[in-house]
Amino acid sequence: MRERLEQLKAEALEHLKSVADAKQLDELRVKYQGKKGKLTEILRGMGGLSAEERPVIGQLANDVRDAIDSAIGAHNERFEREETERRLASETIDVTLPGRKMPRGAVHPLTRVIEEIEQIFIGMGYRIAEGPEVETDYHNFEALNLPKDHPARDMQDSFYITEDLLMRTQTSPVQVRTMEAMSGEVPVKVICPGKVYRRDDDDATHSFQFNQIEGLVIGKNIRMSDLKGTLLHFMQELFGSDTQIRMRPSFFPFTEPSAEVDVTYKKKGATEAGWLEVLGCGMVHPRVLEMSGYDPEKYSGFAFGIGVERIAMLKYGVDDIRHFYNNDERFLEQFARQ
Ligand code: DAH
Repeated sequence: MRERLEQLKAEALEHLKSVADAKQLDELRVKYQGKKGKLTEILRGMGGLSAEERPVIGQLANDVRDAIDSAIGAHNERFEREETERRLASETIDVTLPGRKMPRGAVHPLTRVIEEIEQIFIGMGYRIAEGPEVETDYHNFEALNLPKDHPARDMQDSFYITEDLLMRTQTSPVQVRTMEAMSGEVPVKVICPGKVYRRDDDDATHSFQFNQIEGLVIGKNIRMSDLKGTLLHFMQELFGSDTQIRMRPSFFPFTEPSAEVDVTYKKKGATEAGWLEVLGCGMVHPRVLEMSGYDPEKYSGFAFGIGVERIAMLKYGVDDIRHFYNNDERFLEQFARQ
């Protein structure tokens, strides 16, 4: 039995030398170590051994099994290492290949114009204020000197939600909210960008929802010339330093006097610049100041309201307001940063 065990060990180790891959190695393991393998077969004959011989042969059988095991283990490790090396070699990544291009989004042209206008006014010491889109009748109209029966309310057809709540028709109510929050303190210097809503039929120049930027300044001795200088600087920053503005008398219930402002604008291909209306403005009406807690004897102010779409249409040469809202990628991708 001793010889058979020694022989088995020698045979297995010899056989191992010719094993070429993991599969053959596994077959070899089954052949020698498996349940029906050669070692098991030999050990089955142990019953016929004497009591002295049994532990000696048992020990030897263990040694043989361990020797074959560790030889198989060593081979196995070698095969695994070789397999890993093969994989590493075949799966190398060429880091010099050009990458896949990611499509990049664009900032919406209206957002871009709003941000640009904000930057210009922040540069003049203004801060940004915001207000709700669902507004009270009081803030949207009453406190702006538009009492319930005022005919000028018809200028802005409104979406009412209840008798007292509506979608704001203008950003001017943020003036009122700002004055309330500042409770009589000066200086007030804010701009208020936001969406507004009117019951208009959509066409090339009208949209039931659009954007405005409101401006409000209150302090001591604020004059019409301050308003004009501010607007001139603003328009020159936005459209170029040779831009001119002109003010035409107009009417808004919340300003007195009121004006509309035109800028010089050269259409593509035109030789001479023409005038285009871009905003409404004026000196804050004393009643408006008073209703929101500012003494008109002590303080004065100016206000203006800019139509964002109008500005964006001029700036980018867009001829239909609906382009801003249709989400057509062919339009929007033109505003992608290069
Ligand atoms: N809220 C006005 C509108 O929607 C625009 C406007 C005009 C705002 C004059 C003002 C202003 O603050 O002073 O037509």
